Parts: sequence; C-alpha cells; structure tokens
Amino acid sequence: MTKAVRYDEFGGIDVLRIDEVDRPVPAGTQVLVQVRATGINPGEAAVRTGAMRDIFPSTFPSGQGSDLAGVVVELGPDVDRFSVGDEVIGFSELRAAHAELVLVEIDNLTPKPENISWEVAGALYIAGTTAWGAVHSIQLEKGETVVVSGAAGGVGSFAVQLARRAGATVIGLASERNHEWLRSHGVIPVAYGDGVGERIEANAPNGIHAFIDAYGGGYVELALALGVPAEWVDTTIDFAAAAKYGVKTEPGTEGRAGAEVLAELAELIADGQLEVPIANVYPLTQVRRAYAELERRHTHGKIVLMP
Ligand SMILES: NC(=O)c1ccc[n+]([C@@H]2O[C@H](COP(=O)([O-])OP(=O)(O)OC[C@H]3O[C@@H](n4cnc5c(N)ncnc54)[C@H](OP(=O)(O)O)[C@@H]3O)[C@@H](O)[C@H]2O)c1
Repeated sequence: MTKAVRYDEFGGIDVLRIDEVDRPVPAGTQVLVQVRATGINPGEAAVRTGAMRDIFPSTFPSGQGSDLAGVVVELGPDVDRFSVGDEVIGFSELRAAHAELVLVEIDNLTPKPENISWEVAGALYIAGTTAWGAVHSIQLEKGETVVVSGAAGGVGSFAVQLARRAGATVIGLASERNHEWLRSHGVIPVAYGDGVGERIEANAPNGIHAFIDAYGGGYVELALALGVPAEWVDTTIDFAAAAKYGVKTEPGTEGRAGAEVLAELAELIADGQLEVPIANVYPLTQVRRAYAELERRHTHGKIVLMP
C-alpha cells in the first residue's frame, strides 16, 4: 500500500485526506515515479471546491495534483526510454501527483538536472508552463513595457523573469515585502491597491505595451483603461473578463506546453538564469496546512509537498 491525497466530495480544505491505496502498476508507455516533491496550485483548490466544475469536472474519489519530480521505480511494458533510477521532472494529467507513487506517461517527463533541488523541480509544471504560455501569447519585443499582476506569486515569479529574458521592461505588482526580490531580478516593483494605475503610469514613461494578469479581480479592466490593446492582455484567471473584452487566456484549458518547455525551464534554472522561490515545504501528510497557506494568496513563489 502507498499514500495518496484523496477527497470524496467538493468542499473546503477539510475534505482532503491521506488514503492508503494500492501500489499503481504501469501499463503501456507509463512509468511509476516515486514522488520526491509535488507543487500545489490555486487551481487545485478551485477544482476541489467545485468552483471550476463546468470547465474541469470531477469524479470521486478524486486525487489531486499535477506538478511532480521524483525517481522512476518501475517501467511499463512499452517504455523505450527512461530507466529505473532516473531522476525526472514531469506532470500528471490525472490529478494524481499528490502521492508517494504516481503513474506518468513518458511523454510527460524530462530528466531532472542534477543541480536543481527536488523542491524546485517539483514546483515547475503548472506555474512554469502557465507563465511561459502567457509571456509567449503577448509576443513581447525588446524594449517594450509589460505589467504583471501577482508578480511575486507562483505564476508571476516565473512570468516576470521570462519577460525580462525577452528583453522587456517589466513592472511587477506586489506588496512591499516582495519589492526587493523583484528589484533583484530587474523588475520595477509597484504596490497594488488604490492609485495603482497612476503608479504604473508614473513608472512607464514609454507607455505600456502588454499586461499579464496573474491575479484576477479587475486587472483586465485596468489594463484596458491604461490603453493596452486587448490582444496584448493575457489573464491566467479572469475568464469572465476575457470573454467580455476578448483578451487572451493562454495557456487556456487545452494546448498547455508540456515536457519540452519543462526541459527548457529546467535548463535555465540549472544554468542559474531562472529562480524559483520556494515559500514553504510541507510533508504530504500536511496537505491541508499547505493549502491553508496557499489560499491566503500571499505566497512568494511556490509551496511544495514532499512525500
Ligand atoms: N490558466 C491556467 O492554466 C492557470 C495556471 C496556474 C494558475 N492560474 C491562476 O493564476 C492565478 C495565479 O496563480 P499563482 O499560482 O501565481 O497564485 P499565487 O502564487 O497564490 O499568487 C500569490 C500572489 O498574489 C499576489 N497578490 C495578492 N493580492 C494581490 C492583489 N490584490 N493584486 C496583485 N497581486 C496580489 C501576492 O502578492 P503579495 O504577497 O505581494 O501580496 C502573491 O505573490 C491564480 O488565480 C490561479 O488560479 C491559472
């Protein structure tokens, strides 16, 4: 038997429990991965409460989690790459990553560079590929100015760094305690709250070309009010505003980047060109505490479970 996060109904954090389940058996091109680290994301909380049931339906008992890093411990009969003992970064498409053991298709894995910590490797997939998709969707050109809301959070901390790598001037919206981290990554920090529009304009003498909203709650409207054309606004969360104003929602519910982009991000991290701040690490058994922290919505970087 092996431990896995499960829940039987939509609800708050207290529906989450740790179950003893049968050891999964890899079929076809799956491998069994012993999970060393698995990130948590706000979208998982929204799936769990049922808030996203129209977009992401659930069946019960439900597992949870996409991000993962770990060690290959068993191969399916058709696996032609990866060996037992390989250290890998990847993702579960079956909401099964918050567990000691998880089945993963080999196409959803990439080797873990030796010099990346388990915590960082396990935190990459959802936030990293979302930020990658958002930054690519607005096609930044060198010297353009982009604003990022939620700039120090899971998605935002990747997005600001990827936008800087694209040569953009980046304005990051965050509370004061995250300003030094943003500055240290070449980002102009701006406090959110009353007067944020004026503060953004004061820091953007060449105008604002694009806006990545990684927080929701009115930033799409703010971007449009600041004169950013709808096609250069991307929101990772405000789907109602996106439908109303025709802004982008990359990476959307389909076509998210996969293992190739994970490999690209991992290489940047291994080279010291991309930082993933780890806000906190919890044992798998403390999954409720981990989400309680995440759902306060002031995480700097990523929270990770370590089975
Ligand atoms: N579409 C997709 O595929 C996809 C994928 C991943 C995430 N998402 C969504 O994208 C959003 C961001 O995800 P995440 O993982 O980055 O979340 P997160 O890590 O929980 O974001 C936390 C950040 O939000 C900031 N924040 C809090 N209040 C704010 C405000 N009023 N204005 C601006 N920033 C504020 C916090 O900054 P301070 O600590 O400085 O206050 C903190 O750094 C979530 O809504 C998530 O559901 C969508």
